[in-house]
Amino acid sequence: MADALFKVEDLHLSLPDLARKPLFGTAPRITILKGLSFTVPEGAITGIVGESGSGKTSLGRTLIRLLTPDAGRIIFAGRDIAGLDDEALRPLRRDLQIIFQDPFSSLNPRKTVGAIIASPLLLHKVATAGGEARDLALEALTQVGLPASFAARYPHELSGGQRQRVGIARAVALKPRFILADEIVSGLDVSSQAQILALLMELRARMNFTMAFISHDLSVVRRLCDRVIVMRKGEIVEDADTVTLFDKPQHAYTRLLRDSIPLPEVSDGWLQDA
Ligand SMILES: Nc1ncnc2c1ncn2[C@@H]1O[C@H](COP(=O)(O)OP(=O)(O)OP(=O)(O)O)[C@@H](O)[C@H]1O
Ligand SMILES: [Mg+2]
Repeated sequence: MADALFKVEDLHLSLPDLARKPLFGTAPRITILKGLSFTVPEGAITGIVGESGSGKTSLGRTLIRLLTPDAGRIIFAGRDIAGLDDEALRPLRRDLQIIFQDPFSSLNPRKTVGAIIASPLLLHKVATAGGEARDLALEALTQVGLPASFAARYPHELSGGQRQRVGIARAVALKPRFILADEIVSGLDVSSQAQILALLMELRARMNFTMAFISHDLSVVRRLCDRVIVMRKGEIVEDADTVTLFDKPQHAYTRLLRDSIPLPEVSDGWLQDA
């Protein structure tokens, strides 16, 4: 088995319950993650599935330390990052990237695609301003299958699938060790989804990053992911390689999720039945 990029031990997370925030004092906290332990193997794509509200996004955001856990350890590349403050996290940010579900709201509408991809390169000092950043941004565009001329376009001039490619280009240009992809194909039509999945597989083969892929869509997860973590109510109910999980799910909840996948093909007699 590959080395673990993340080793997570007994991870607990609570967040202030904003719905019950009192006028004075602090809001009561609600428990979100209840003592999770798992590893994320290097170079693999780990799927995270589970019903809405099960804690997938919270888990992903805690892994890359956009959220701070109450307790537990997050060993990333051999070092516990669970308790690091912003200052200590800064040098790690480049290696912990995220691709958002809705590229339209996450891409600055007033910036060109080229500037959107180049700014994190400048922020993380991967490139110096001017030619170097521009060259790397153009290279990233090519890697995600967009023409270099798109560097001069604005987000509203792109289709949903093209915008999602820009989101991917912005992350991979940094050559991060880990990418969190949270529902990144949910908003796309089926053919754009398939193209983005093919792109992710191609990039992973070429660039060797590690990815966590959060999705409601188990048929997508089955195609893309090497292993899958199944969450329910802030806990992991199952954690297995993809083939085992779909062929021999151990937990009734996993079987329920699996059996709710729509069939990929219609039956031979579908016209007669209609
Ligand atoms: N900022 C927050 N403050 C308080 N509670 C939150 C916050 N964000 C999420 N929660 C709660 O934490 C739980 C887990 O939410 P989370 O968004 O991680 O689930 P999810 O599995 O990603 O759901 P979905 O599939 O709908 O995206 C939910 O009960 C949610 O209401
Ligand atoms: Mg979510």
